[in-house]
Parts: sequence; C-alpha cells; structure tokens
Amino acid sequence: MKLAIHHRQGSFSEGWIDYCKKNNIEYKVVNAFDNDIITQLKDCDAFMWHHHHGKFKDVISAKKILFSLEHAGIKVFPNFKTAWHFDDKVAQKYLLEAIDAPIVPSYVFYDKKEASGWARNTTYPKVFKLKGGAGATNVKLVENQTEALKLINKAFGKGFPQFDRFNNLKESYIKYKGGQDTLFRLAKGVGRLAISTNFAKQHPPEKGYAYFQDFIPNDGFDIRVVVIGGKRAAAEKRFVRENDFRASGSGKFSYEGIDCEVIKESFKIANKLNLQSVAFDFVIDKNNKPLIIEMSYGFGIQGISNVLGYWNHELNWHKDKLKPCEWIIEDLLL
Ligand SMILES: Nc1ncnc2c1ncn2[C@@H]1O[C@H](COP(=O)(O)OP(=O)(O)O)[C@@H](O)[C@H]1O
Ligand SMILES: [Mg+2]
Repeated sequence: MKLAIHHRQGSFSEGWIDYCKKNNIEYKVVNAFDNDIITQLKDCDAFMWHHHHGKFKDVISAKKILFSLEHAGIKVFPNFKTAWHFDDKVAQKYLLEAIDAPIVPSYVFYDKKEASGWARNTTYPKVFKLKGGAGATNVKLVENQTEALKLINKAFGKGFPQFDRFNNLKESYIKYKGGQDTLFRLAKGVGRLAISTNFAKQHPPEKGYAYFQDFIPNDGFDIRVVVIGGKRAAAEKRFVRENDFRASGSGKFSYEGIDCEVIKESFKIANKLNLQSVAFDFVIDKNNKPLIIEMSYGFGIQGISNVLGYWNHELNWHKDKLKPCEWIIEDLLL
C-alpha cells in the first residue's frame, strides 16, 4: 500500500504524515496543482487531500482531481459521498431532506418574485446565509420583512462578496477585546477595509439565489459532533459571541453536558450517508430536539482535540485522546 498526500501546513496532512512515519507506511508528498498530478499518482493506491473552502485553488480543483481518481478505482479522502456537498449549505439542505434527517427548516429561492412573496408572508426572525463560508462570516439574523427584502434585492442584484470586510473588522475587534486576538490581527482587519483578500478577489460574488433558515432560539451555544469512519464520535459545545446568536468561530468551547441523543443522531446520519468524516453542527430547539444547521467533512482540530473522550458506535464512552487524522487514515486503509 502506497499513499500520496497533498500537504498543507495546519491541515490534517500533518497528522497523516506523522502517522505514516510512525507506522512505516510508504507515502509520498505530492503537489496536487501539478499538471501531471494524475500520472504522479499511478504508483499509489490512495490519495489524501484536506482541501480548504477558503483556498481558491483548492476550491476550483480539489473535487475534480479527487473524484476522477475515485472514479478510476483509487481510494481517496475525502471521497465523493463525503465531500460533494462540502461548503454548500444549499446542497446539504437537499441531501438532508432527502434522507429525512432532522434539519433546521430551510428555504431556498432562485427567483426574486418567489423569494419576495415568501418574505412578505413568513414569520420573523429568520437567518439569512450564503451557501459557502465558515466561522459565521456569511450568516445574518433577519429581524423583519424589510430586512429580508433588502437581502433578496441584493441577492438578485449585485450579489454578496465572499468576504465581508466590515464584518471581518467587527469580528477582529470583538476577538481582540475578548483577548482571543492580537493587535496585529486587528490592524490587519483595518487594512482589509481597503484591500480585499485574494479569495474574495478571485471568487465571483454570490448571487442568483436566496437562502434562509428558521431562527432556532437556543441556549447560547451550538453543538458540534465529529464522526470519523462512522465508528467514533466526539462533541463540543460552542458558545455564542457576546450579544450575538452565532457560535461558530467564537473560539469558546465546553466539552461537558452533551446529550447522547445528538451523538446517536450523528452516527445514524454519518452511516446512512457513508461519510468518511463529518462535523455536524446542531442547535437544540425548544422541544429539546437537535436540528442540523450544517455539515462539513473538514473541521478545525484544535477545539475538538481537547475533548475528554469519545463514543464508539455502540455509544460506549472511551476516556481517551481523539486522533482524528490517524482514524481517517486507518479507515481509508481498511
Ligand atoms: N437557523 C439558525 N438558528 C439559530 N442559530 C443559528 C442558525 N443558523 C446558524 N446559527 C448560529 O450561527 C452560527 C453560524 O452558522 P453556520 O450556518 O454554521 O455558518 P458557518 O458555516 O459560518 O459556521 C452557528 O454556529 C449557530 O450558532
Ligand atoms: Mg457552522
């Protein structure tokens, strides 16, 4: 068995390379952006790439390369079932509805008239989102019809940039105040008011659709459950920012008081969809029912690595360290 790994600092590939070294697994590090990447992989049995939604080169190439190899019978991570819906909340809505998974009631429109008609007749608050993005950057609370109509106008007009500069600065300021960010990062946010990020410059504005969800009042946190290989799961509570309803990107975690129901539900869906790895984000509604707000094959390992243990698929608790990168490789090599 020979593995090929596309390496990116700070990604799963660090853990994969460590694992290969420790376990004497033959591997080579490749650059997926090389024109002859497919030829370079001819002597390999598997290819792994922790591609990132915020790296434009990854966004336009990763799925094509991975799925071509998979189509030709080579093992890949992430594979098609795990990643076709990555960083696309609208795709996730359809997929989760198709398998009757518990998701936050979600509404998508491809027509301005349809969207405006709905906005005039629905209840508020709602949550407006772009289909891509992370860390809550493209997620807004919509208090009333006027706000909804304004967003709809923009969605079917000039569209939304992928990177909201004012929002980024606000986030940096809140983090700086909370001691989670440095003055340097704050200054960078000010700088970015004038200069857009490379990603935003390359990425066309998001438009031509409008996506809303019901707002689920929750107890100040969401729950992230990570399931690897359908066999092991770990969870963290993520607290919302001060005076905000959004948890993702807040950097405030807790690992206690996780209801087993949310773990059971996560195993069920991960196995039904045959996902190699997944992080589900849940909010708990007023009837104590966990509802999915989004899913992603990739996730930050820092927060979740501090869990006190994990569950196996029989829901037995293991007080042990989480090793997501190792488990992903072991699962692929099975
Ligand atoms: N429908 C909703 N009801 C209540 N809170 C929500 C809803 N959707 C998102 N949130 C909150 O906003 C945060 C960011 O939303 P999410 O859709 O996960 O975007 P991102 O991809 O940026 O993480 C979530 O972590 C959650 O705390
Ligand atoms: Mg999220």
